[in-house]
Amino acid sequence: MATTPHHAHWSSRWTFMLAAVGSAVGLGNIWKFPYQAGLNGGGAFVLFYLVFVFLIGLPVLMAELSIGRRAQRSPVYAMEQVAREEGRSKYWVLLGWSGVIGGFLILTYYSVVGGWVLAYIAKATLGFSGFDADTSRAAFNALAGDPVEPVVWHVAFMAITVAIVAQGVKAGLEKAVKLLMPTLFVLLIGMVLYAAVAGDLAAALKFLFQPDFSTLFFVTTIDPVTGTEIQTFTITRVLNALGLAFFSLSLGMGTIMTYGSYLTKDVNIARSAATITFADSAVALMAGLAIFPIVYAVGLNPDENVGLVFITLPIAFGQMTGGAIVGPAFFFLLAFAAITSAISLIEPMVSFVEERTGGRRPNIAVLIGFLVTAIGLLSAWGQTNNLLGDVSVFGVNFMTAKGYLTDNIMMPAGGLFIAIFSGWFISRKNAMDELALNDGAFRKYYFLVKYVCPVAITAVFVSVLFF
Ligand code: PHE
Repeated sequence: MATTPHHAHWSSRWTFMLAAVGSAVGLGNIWKFPYQAGLNGGGAFVLFYLVFVFLIGLPVLMAELSIGRRAQRSPVYAMEQVAREEGRSKYWVLLGWSGVIGGFLILTYYSVVGGWVLAYIAKATLGFSGFDADTSRAAFNALAGDPVEPVVWHVAFMAITVAIVAQGVKAGLEKAVKLLMPTLFVLLIGMVLYAAVAGDLAAALKFLFQPDFSTLFFVTTIDPVTGTEIQTFTITRVLNALGLAFFSLSLGMGTIMTYGSYLTKDVNIARSAATITFADSAVALMAGLAIFPIVYAVGLNPDENVGLVFITLPIAFGQMTGGAIVGPAFFFLLAFAAITSAISLIEPMVSFVEERTGGRRPNIAVLIGFLVTAIGLLSAWGQTNNLLGDVSVFGVNFMTAKGYLTDNIMMPAGGLFIAIFSGWFISRKNAMDELALNDGAFRKYYFLVKYVCPVAITAVFVSVLFF
């Protein structure tokens, strides 16, 4: 296989951090975390998510960065090279491939949700005054159920992403990331404060942080014949928490490996990984704290599903002083965060095709973007009341099915193999050299990737087959 070494490096540790945080922080934290927490019963799910983030996500993040930096190549070539240097099977390269495909698949629904965010920038400039639970839900359903409007925004979202990727990621993005990411953090803090005062904070805190394990391990259904409640044991919600941890940290599919390949040797991987992990989970929790107090105050339900953010926040913007400015600003910054993540989803495939074929980057980006946009139509039209709303794949719509495949299967499986590879197939000495940690810290990392990650991920996978 032809290999083209990467030469470019981040201009500073700070740029790398911003790019990595830009990839990690996106719709996963602000859209997916709250609605998944809502659907999966709250506190116990949130607790599992956080445990997975720190016990599994953090070590896998370090492992991915190490492999990428060591090889200085995009994931497919990086896996091929490191496996060869360690005298291991050439089939480890499949891990690079699954990442390239995973990023592509995620983007086919990520971009539709990104499109909804763009639509809400426009709606927010018109204002949400007088919005209540019913009107806001109706407004979201009207958008998601429309055959044309979401498609227009989905195309716009992909066009922006492709335009940036076509020019090379670093050029356009560096300045924007430096300014807009911190602004998003500040705005989120403001919204948390607003929600704490104007919403029902106590109910939100109870929902998010008081674990009730019966909501995690049991689903309640009503027996259609007798009308009695039936409790069924399930592991699916634990898998959802694991999948969300991988999704929100951009793990298990080569994105972080790609970013690691642009790293210089003097960067401390462990410290960077810890910062990314903290920032990422902090944004998810802040989003939860900005949303749930409003949910309870206005009589919405936590389980509004994919519309939760789009239904809840406009009600707050409609009520607050200055909402006509804060609303558009929020959706603009969210769109920006989504675009920096979308770039990191498409980048492994674009850089791979570029390295492989030697073709021109803009052409490759446009071609891949076109394919994503076309397949993405299934996600846009698969929404309730939309053209393909009645089509079900394994009992759910296209978007949910793709989300399950990527978040709950491909990413944790990618993480599982990265952990196994890093813990068992890279020599201890090489792993230690790359991370440059002191003995005690390295031993903890090694214990986590070697035993904890593989055992925990396998345990969740296996139990889900039975329950
Ligand atoms: N982490 C991103 C988010 O939270 C999504 C993503 C997943 C990006 C995988 C890259 C790779 O929105």
